[in-house]
Amino acid sequence: MEINYSFMMEEFLKEKGIKPEDIREFEPEAAKAHKMIQERGFSELAFLDLPFQDTREIEDTGRWIREKAEYFLILGIGGSALGPRVLLDTFKKTHRPNVFIYDNVDPGTLDRILRHIKLKDTVINVITKSGTTGETVASFMILWDSLKKEGLRPEEHIVITTDPEKGPMRRIAKEYALRSLSIPSGVVGRYSVLSPVGLLLASVLGVKPQELLEGARQVHKRCTVAELKENPAYMFGSLLHLMDKKFSRRINILMPYSDALKSFSEWFCQLWAESLGKNGKGLMPYPSVGAVDQHSQLQLWIEGPDDKVVIFIRIEDYGVDYKIPEIFPDIKEFAFLGGHTLSKLIQAEQEATALSLMKAGRPNITISINTISPTTIGELFHFFEIATAFTGILYGINPFNQPAVEEGKLYTRAMMGSPDLEDRLREVMSVREKANYKIGYRP
Ligand code: PA5
Repeated sequence: MEINYSFMMEEFLKEKGIKPEDIREFEPEAAKAHKMIQERGFSELAFLDLPFQDTREIEDTGRWIREKAEYFLILGIGGSALGPRVLLDTFKKTHRPNVFIYDNVDPGTLDRILRHIKLKDTVINVITKSGTTGETVASFMILWDSLKKEGLRPEEHIVITTDPEKGPMRRIAKEYALRSLSIPSGVVGRYSVLSPVGLLLASVLGVKPQELLEGARQVHKRCTVAELKENPAYMFGSLLHLMDKKFSRRINILMPYSDALKSFSEWFCQLWAESLGKNGKGLMPYPSVGAVDQHSQLQLWIEGPDDKVVIFIRIEDYGVDYKIPEIFPDIKEFAFLGGHTLSKLIQAEQEATALSLMKAGRPNITISINTISPTTIGELFHFFEIATAFTGILYGINPFNQPAVEEGKLYTRAMMGSPDLEDRLREVMSVREKANYKIGYRP
């Protein structure tokens, strides 16, 4: 993995770029953040230990599921679903088991899944660190009831992934003797993909968890060193922080040139947004995919407001390739493509996009990985997690909590009849009555 940040620099962007001395002057701030990480200033930095975990229990459970299940259904949301989805999109090769991730509580989606699967041949993995997330709990309750109604025993069909000690899901796992895996207590949702949250699915898909962790270990070695100039994750975070501080560029677009990594953009967006958006500070992530968004978003990025940094992920080797045939020699708009490969085309598009942004004075970074494999995906996960924690510390915020989302959860619980929240419900009713600026029609 290599990061080319040339097109963030003054040499290419002139007055719109970062000067080498800006980076030098930033070293003491980076050193402070490094100290905080080294001293584990937040207990949630426990995610740094994940690359070194023992995965035998996860592999045994994965083997049991592979042997038993036609269908594997994950229930979870946020950090308990976005990481698994990356692994599913990246490594799903075989037909069996057929994997579904149900995160949103959209009844239409659940209906489609339930029509497709046979519960007697299904293993359900309920993933929730807290054990209290409404969406996950609701779908768990529906599936539990459905199993019972079909005369099936939950202990043969459910694996719980939750906190080792705390929360109602751990209580249920104990009470009903369900199979379970533990998310280490210090590891929070969006930093948990390299725990059983993602590793069980990896194992079900036939990917060795230790291969993912090997990539994470490689990153760990490079991205925990003190020197800013030697540490790719610190450099990445510092540059994006400087782009905000110096030029108010606060939108960070992640653009992998790979369909398989589209969901990686979404995983990054949760990590970056929920970790950094606090106390009026933060960087706004935007999920993208190349080359598709060149034909959708690029115009805005080049000529619209100068408030963005584009982060490319470039793939050096796609593992497979197709040659474009040398046909239609008389049509010059076609002929130049003949004889080249699709990978050469998509790589040229990535480089061309980086260049055209740079030429317009728009900053961008290119992260190159050799190929898409368990090791490189493990690298990417751990790289972005370290970079996010570091960047949050630079901003002086807690990159591991999400206090602002609690308010909405309380209103939802009140509307769903939670007895301890009658005051909230009264508040909802009174606002509903007053909120009358309406336009449109109902059929
Ligand atoms: O990053 C986080 O901690 C959150 O976004 C959680 O992942 C999300 O709220 C789901 O929480 P839980 O795993 O407790 O159900």
